[in-house]
Amino acid sequence: MLDPSNELTAYDRDHVFHPSTHMGMHARGETPTRVITGAKGCTIVDRNGRESLDAFAGLYCVNVGYGRPEIAEAIAEQAKALPYYHAYVGHGSEPSIRLAKMIIDRAPAGMSRVYFGLSGSDANETNIKLVWYANNILGRPEKKKIISRWRGYHGSGVMTGSLTGLKLFHNAFDLPRAPILHTEAPYNFRRPDRSMSEEQFSQFCADRLEEMILAEGPETVAALIGEPVLGTGGIVPPPAGYWEKVQAVLARYDVMLIADEVVTGFGRLGTMFGSGHYGMRPDLITIAKGLTSAYAPLSGTIVSETLWNVLVQGSDELGPIGHGWTYSAHPLCAAAGVANLNLIDELDLLANVREVGAHFRSGLEAALGNHRHVGEVRGEGLLAAVEFVADRDDRRFFDPAAKIGPRISAALLERGVIARAMPEGDILGFAPPFCLTREEADMIVAKTADAVDAVAAEL
Ligand SMILES: Cc1ncc(COP(=O)(O)O)c(C=O)c1O
Repeated sequence: MLDPSNELTAYDRDHVFHPSTHMGMHARGETPTRVITGAKGCTIVDRNGRESLDAFAGLYCVNVGYGRPEIAEAIAEQAKALPYYHAYVGHGSEPSIRLAKMIIDRAPAGMSRVYFGLSGSDANETNIKLVWYANNILGRPEKKKIISRWRGYHGSGVMTGSLTGLKLFHNAFDLPRAPILHTEAPYNFRRPDRSMSEEQFSQFCADRLEEMILAEGPETVAALIGEPVLGTGGIVPPPAGYWEKVQAVLARYDVMLIADEVVTGFGRLGTMFGSGHYGMRPDLITIAKGLTSAYAPLSGTIVSETLWNVLVQGSDELGPIGHGWTYSAHPLCAAAGVANLNLIDELDLLANVREVGAHFRSGLEAALGNHRHVGEVRGEGLLAAVEFVADRDDRRFFDPAAKIGPRISAALLERGVIARAMPEGDILGFAPPFCLTREEADMIVAKTADAVDAVAAEL
């Protein structure tokens, strides 16, 4: 906890502007600074020597686990050979070219090119620009509105923060900005009418989307963006039939689909891409986190062959595309990506995601599924969530001011396990590294059940 005599802690309080942090409490020393100094496998250690099992893989990104020398060495070797050269005007580096080929080899059919960025947010900014650019080239300049879903998370820039459908990311930032709209979240547990079956709720969501497109005018709606599984919005797999019904609506009005696979890309669901997992046929796919397992910051926008052909037409008409970052296709990050994707294959980590993921989720269900304050245990692959309710019979939620989710996550941390209290609702999220063992999964389950009981006893 906070040690006022600690120099580093004082510097941190006085000089670091942390993301997603209560600024006043942190600056006043009312919340602790935890300095992480090392990690191996699924476990991190802080400078006081305290270990925690990281059941959220950082921010669901250290997918291959911590301490992989193969990736560290690939970055070091690349830094010695060529730390940087830009990718403008047809330049490249060997790892970035190889990585693009590896991504397309793994991507769903019909995908053609990769534009590299640094973060999920900037990749989604690129996506919006490409959709607008393409519709201008196609001679439909009024077709520009982007529909996102409430509870979707797509970043925290100006446009991407607007796409994000969580109030916390809008409050006092004058977001969302036009032309971004939000439609129904495919959140079966919170469906408005509990008598609906999952399939009926999927149809309800598709109908709401269609109504929005018609009300706005199909000639003004360019794209829908969605995560295959809602992530930060609550870790919510789609209800049965959802993507099929939504895609039927998009096809009717010639609306593009952007699959935001920042969390699901490269194995989180036990398959290479969430798009393949759910039969999505996107025009654009956003990738980041799992591309390098966060050993270096790298993101990408994967462009379909059809959309690529429109972009080529654009260049032929207008000249080189006016879009680029200094660090696009950064060689050090690309070297990390190549080593990371090789490691996922060599260790067959997707098989472990499927096997240990199923074991972990059934363990959570067995331990907590019947708890009086648990409304739902859900997940897919190595993504899982437990949602807490005041009363499970009438699905009554806790008063957000009681902060039940954060209290359970704090109680779990005291027991040596990191899980994330998701920002909207009392939801504990899990996304451990892909190398999680069955024993570690059992330990997370046991400690979670204990933490839940401890907080429930205080109510
Ligand atoms: C689905 C999704 N898209 C985009 C982002 C934004 O990525 P970044 O934080 O790298 O900007 C995130 C981050 O959590 C995400 O989960």
